[in-house]
Amino acid sequence: MQQQWSDIDTYIESYLTPVDPILTQTLKNTDDKGFPDHLAVAPNQGMLLQMLIQMNKCKRVLELGTFAAYSTLWLARALPEDGYILTIEGRDTHAALGQENIDNAKLPQTIELKVGRAADILKALPEDFEPFDFIFIDADKQSYPEYLELSLNFSHSGSIIVLDNVIRGGDILDPKNQKPSIEGIRKMYQLMQNHPRLLSSTALQTVGSKGHDGFAIAIVK
Ligand code: DHB
Ligand code: MG
Repeated sequence: MQQQWSDIDTYIESYLTPVDPILTQTLKNTDDKGFPDHLAVAPNQGMLLQMLIQMNKCKRVLELGTFAAYSTLWLARALPEDGYILTIEGRDTHAALGQENIDNAKLPQTIELKVGRAADILKALPEDFEPFDFIFIDADKQSYPEYLELSLNFSHSGSIIVLDNVIRGGDILDPKNQKPSIEGIRKMYQLMQNHPRLLSSTALQTVGSKGHDGFAIAIVK
């Protein structure tokens, strides 16, 4: 099935995802430097993130897990020129690559990349830090429950939280799989269930060039 899913993504993208030199250059630079490309979102997924931002006229975005900054650039492109993104990356090598791709893109929006463990960086933000309108959680899956809670500290009523990779090819249903990453995702579902600060939450399975995975989406009450 994987080949067909990838072919259909290519078909969709040929119609609906305009060729964009900045995004193409970002993927090429990532590949040229020997980094895996499967960690980045697919183009049609980047477009979905962009549309969620556009629908809600978001101006301030938080991203946990920059990697090559491919998703960061999709998020930034959706913002007005005075928009702001704080993106946090835990690995030095990924952060250096992400910063290079951000610099090469020369976008007018302000993109601030901080290096370190996302939880530590969020805890160190001033309490009165202006809240984010849109939050994309895509860092280490083990910490998703903690990231979701911390994100809520920097959100407002109506903020949207999207979490990537919440299906993992169905591993979440396999009781034998007790990897910390999979356990983290299961705990995220438990935390989202009836969370007093969330208005509504769902998750969608996706298939495509990135395999069988999915997004969770929540709106802050
Ligand atoms: C992995 C992480 C991601 O965020 C992703 O989208 C795909 C794979 C990983 O760690 O394997
Ligand atoms: Mg991801």
